[in-house]
Amino acid sequence: MPPIQVKKLGGALGAEVSGIDLSRPVAAETFAEIRRAWLDHLVLRFRGQRLSDPQLLAFSQLFGELDPPGPNPYGKPFLPEHPEMNVISNIKMGGAPIGGLGDGEAIWHADMTYVETPPKGAILHALEIPPSGGDTYWANMYLAYETLPAELKNRIEGRKANHDATYNSAGVMRKGYQEVTDPRNAPGAQHELVRVHPETGRKCLFLGRRRNSCILGLPLAESEALLDELWEHATRAQFTFRQQWRVGDVLIWDNRCTLHRRDPFDPNARRLMHRTQIKADRLRA
Ligand code: SIN
Repeated sequence: MPPIQVKKLGGALGAEVSGIDLSRPVAAETFAEIRRAWLDHLVLRFRGQRLSDPQLLAFSQLFGELDPPGPNPYGKPFLPEHPEMNVISNIKMGGAPIGGLGDGEAIWHADMTYVETPPKGAILHALEIPPSGGDTYWANMYLAYETLPAELKNRIEGRKANHDATYNSAGVMRKGYQEVTDPRNAPGAQHELVRVHPETGRKCLFLGRRRNSCILGLPLAESEALLDELWEHATRAQFTFRQQWRVGDVLIWDNRCTLHRRDPFDPNARRLMHRTQIKADRLRA
């Protein structure tokens, strides 16, 4: 099989992998190169792919056991025949959404950090794309950590934050949750603000999402101010990569060391993505 090509997409993170058809079985040595590139570049893009759901599942499973989607606002899987696959879409059929996140902005977040062991990665396959808008951005949390002023590094070392489970990244409450009025009471999971990536051994910021976050052991006002400072730093443009989608794109990201967000788009346009995610090996702090 001819070798794949890996080309950096931006200064901060992201690379394009070409020379491969993901609908076909991937040779072990080719997959080893893809995996290495994923750890090095955090986000990989494969263009011009046309994957059926079973083909997307087969490619995803090369990275590990699949992690089913978290609870969506409607309380049942979007694809009953593939409950391990999620649908991201604004399309409605018979008045009912066929997927999650709608057409608005999806705020900066890492996936499912409201559970003790969030997925290590996720994959999006673009099936329908609006003519404009709906771009997705990833931010590199190694760089965010490495460039923090020493004083801020010291203030967060060894500290944990609570990661709220109540709302999805589109701001919609998940089924079974109630409004949170005090972040100190938010249901979710607690993680170190600085994590060591279990495969690369590099330190990164681990922020989850801003809404209802709170740093344990600090007065609320101090926690809010410190989180604002961390989020302002972590999401600076110089740490990000912007994805302008084409039909057939497949993107995989490392959820342990990135955040992502999505721009809104025209509600009258259609956007459809199928999505998988991969279970983590436990992170060590
Ligand atoms: C997601 O957060 O997984 C969805 C991003 C997108 O819709 O581009």
